[in-house]
Amino acid sequence: MSDSKTYPIKQFSTHTPHIDEEKYLRMYQQSVQEPDKFWSRMAHEFIDWFEPWKTVKNVDYKNASIKWFEGGKLNVSYNCIDRHLKDKADHTAIIWEGDEPDQQRYISYQELHDEVCKMANALKSRGVKKGDRVCIYMPMIPEVGFAMLACARIGAVHSVVFGGFSPEALKSRILDSDCRVVITADAGVRGGKTVPLKANTDKALKDCPNVHSVFVVKHRLADIDWHAERDIDYNELKTEMEPECPVETMDAEDPLFILYTSGSTGKPKGVLHTSGGYLLHVAMTHKYIFDYHDGDIYWCTADAGWITGHSYIFYGPLANGATTLVFEGVPSYPTPSRFWQVVDKHKVNIFYTAPTAIRALMAVGDDAVKSTSRKSLRLLGSVGEPINVEAWEWYYKVVGDERCPIVDTWWQTETGGILISPLPGATPLKPGSATRPFFGVQPAILDQDGNELDGKASGYLVMKDSWPGQMRSVYGDHDRFFQTYFSQYSGYYFTGDGANRDEDGYYWITGRVDDVLNVSGHRMGTAEVENALDLHPLVAESAVVGYPHDIKGQGIYAFVIFKNGVEFNDEIKQQLIDIITEEIGPIAKPDKIQWAPDLPKTRSGKIMRRILRKIAENQVESIGDTSTLADPSVVQHLIDNRLH
Ligand code: PRX
Repeated sequence: MSDSKTYPIKQFSTHTPHIDEEKYLRMYQQSVQEPDKFWSRMAHEFIDWFEPWKTVKNVDYKNASIKWFEGGKLNVSYNCIDRHLKDKADHTAIIWEGDEPDQQRYISYQELHDEVCKMANALKSRGVKKGDRVCIYMPMIPEVGFAMLACARIGAVHSVVFGGFSPEALKSRILDSDCRVVITADAGVRGGKTVPLKANTDKALKDCPNVHSVFVVKHRLADIDWHAERDIDYNELKTEMEPECPVETMDAEDPLFILYTSGSTGKPKGVLHTSGGYLLHVAMTHKYIFDYHDGDIYWCTADAGWITGHSYIFYGPLANGATTLVFEGVPSYPTPSRFWQVVDKHKVNIFYTAPTAIRALMAVGDDAVKSTSRKSLRLLGSVGEPINVEAWEWYYKVVGDERCPIVDTWWQTETGGILISPLPGATPLKPGSATRPFFGVQPAILDQDGNELDGKASGYLVMKDSWPGQMRSVYGDHDRFFQTYFSQYSGYYFTGDGANRDEDGYYWITGRVDDVLNVSGHRMGTAEVENALDLHPLVAESAVVGYPHDIKGQGIYAFVIFKNGVEFNDEIKQQLIDIITEEIGPIAKPDKIQWAPDLPKTRSGKIMRRILRKIAENQVESIGDTSTLADPSVVQHLIDNRLH
């Protein structure tokens, strides 16, 4: 890492960036030395408040108590829409690009206002009020944003569930936060393939007796079942709704949304974010890290079902009055030039995607890129997983024509917004490094015993203090919040990631240090996949680990023990894959399933995952000591039969 190449700061031909090197250092210093003063200034600059706050920051990591701008009153929907109407009513808020290249919609801020108000009134007409939870299970169409902002407008708490999740996964999320209303569409389409969202919802709701209303946006005119007492044709209802809806006054610490994410153990956690601090953090990072200027066309390719979609398709850009592009499709459909054709079609200036997409497109070859212009691009971003140097260089040279800086942004569902990233006007780039902390962010590297390491170091990445966008709790289980993030090393937020810091103070994220997988940027717990496999009646036990995968970043490798005498065959393998698709969704399908007569366990019965990981990575020479195993001979069988 220390001998890595450094790319100097680029001057933009069109404008001066918001932050230069000197300003970064000055602002960073102030942000950590005088946080109250710094954040007050920022909160006034970025957010319109109905009433000022009483305390800027009130944080106690020892008790997992995190509060920002207490007493301050605002409304997120007002900040993302209404306040822009004075100057920007006719400006495009959302560009929608459909799955097929000839489908597009342009939604102005005025239209956004009217659509959101109608949706908010529709929710109210079904009794939804402040604090109620609403589940959103949608394709990537503008209505997903309308739904989120409509909830924010009336103080309802949304829980967006990724459209690729199965009915079973949808059900458990609806039940966990007791959502009574679901907003969905008849169907979605990605890469020409239909996603039966309404049918999935019907299946999920068989076991959700509290759900009394399902809004169905007719998007594909798909053939769907109808439950008259529960289902509402939103396109029809909308015509009766007023395009005006007053905003609810919310406290800065009132919940804005719940978003489920996977951890190392147990079922997915409902990460709870609140209103004031979150909005400030995403607006500010969107402006500074993407060097957003008025009039820019900005495109983040994430799905609304993930935190990146929440913070950097909708809330951050709209708070700043930007034009944000919402894309329904996939990078490779109808051709591998699609991303770049969309860039040219809409003259995108800022483009933010995931390493897995970059690697997949890189594998197709340069021609698909070079046949497009991409002259409008000024800045490129990366998120979701470590970006390998080869992919970074390709993104920089082939996609960006060596003209566009790359911001490699490190953050998590829990952090709400970006914490470590270059600022394009302030940070020389090193491919593969997320570089330096954003304002107010104080990372540290700890050794296993919790000692803070100085200078060049390698260990666990933690945060020494809070930032406004930090999650506030696990929905319905505050103790789990404390246990997961604050119990390992007292006084620190534990990220679950490992990192190196080099001699220039740059951070290099090495990946998860817990049992969380990151497959194509999709986060999942090994335990979730194992629990699904264990549902098969012939499975006695299973263990799942990740291994390096050229395109996905990580692949899923499952070791499965069958009950007495059962032989592994293709039929059982397919059944296992089907179970996982049913329980979680296609994103969790194992890449490899190995039959195992037994698993390497300690004498106390704990599975030695370290050994399984080495086998899955095909690094059997570095398996190390197996003498503490109850039965060391198990390992040889697994090695001999490994799948490569
Ligand atoms: O391991 C880190 C990886 O993704 C994890 C967070 O996943 P999720 O909550 O789904 O949020 C993804 C989008 C923010 C982190 O713990 N990760 C995310 N961004 C990067 C990254 N790893 C390395 N470099 C990044 N830029």
